[in-house]
Amino acid sequence: ARPLKVALLGCGVVGSQVARQMLEGGDEFQARVGRRLDLVGISVRNLAKDRPGIDAALLTDDAAELVARKGIDLVIEVMGGVEPARSLILAAMAGGASVITANKQLLAQDGPTLYEAAAEAGVDLYYEAAVAGAIPIIRPLRESLVGDEVTAVKGIVNGTTNFILDKMTTEGSSFDEVLAEAQRLGYAEDDPTADVEGLDAAAKAAILASLAFHSRVNLDDVDCEGITTVTADDVATAAELGYVIKLLARCALAPDNSISVGVHPTLVPANHPLANVSGAFNAVFIESRHAGQLMFMGPGAGGAPTASAVLGDVITAARNRVRGVAGPGESSYSARPVTPRNLV
Ligand code: HSE
Repeated sequence: ARPLKVALLGCGVVGSQVARQMLEGGDEFQARVGRRLDLVGISVRNLAKDRPGIDAALLTDDAAELVARKGIDLVIEVMGGVEPARSLILAAMAGGASVITANKQLLAQDGPTLYEAAAEAGVDLYYEAAVAGAIPIIRPLRESLVGDEVTAVKGIVNGTTNFILDKMTTEGSSFDEVLAEAQRLGYAEDDPTADVEGLDAAAKAAILASLAFHSRVNLDDVDCEGITTVTADDVATAAELGYVIKLLARCALAPDNSISVGVHPTLVPANHPLANVSGAFNAVFIESRHAGQLMFMGPGAGGAPTASAVLGDVITAARNRVRGVAGPGESSYSARPVTPRNLV
């Protein structure tokens, strides 16, 4: 059978790892899918940059041309940002490709457009890597828990800020020192203000709330405060009182059926499972009517862990394609009112 053709958009911290893991996976992935996965092109901004281990013949700076090539089965978008990512994804879907994306900003600002385009084209849209890096959290909310009623989600969903708060707590380091280290380790966004101002977590909160409550929660609905005003003194005082300060993304379903969603530095009791999530780890704590409490924890940032989530989606979408079936779409959503507010 013919190989499945895969195009990769973006070759930064995550994209370069996706390319490497795909090439390494070769025969093993072929066995898991039943067809060979053939990486046919990688779009980059800067062709001149040195990319060890990546075949330069695959690189192009014309993403639109790559997506428009004949017979592309899967497009992986890890370039980030709303445009041109959205136009490229829509073009890919219209051309019949399934899309795997890690683009939290695009999903949080315009997710429904992507879902509608995927449904219209009869292709898949997967985005496990958009929230909490390697942690399986999209699939659990979208599929495993779809028969339950989720009532609240509380998450540490930004590795950079968790890393900073953790080092401030355990080592008394200064904010700037730790931020520079987080950047060096590949956790922070290109513009780290998105991390420290809480905007990265807010995008993830919107995605989680949309899935948890079968609704459409947009980035603008999220009440958001970052960690730039948290001082070493605050951290020390919290510890004396038996608390840890964490940047929590929280969403909850109120008795009146409205959704509250916000991101705030929060005092977490030291004996709560979320208090013990250290370094760039993320964790998502879910409360549901029938299953009760669940917690998902693991590496929430960094190239290799995030690429692991991308590859899981790639193989799932590839298997669907081989069998001629489509993955889950958007659950028919209920128009619940959304209140941006600080949840106590
Ligand atoms: N900058 C993000 C973080 C990367 O620190 O969690 C993962 O989305």
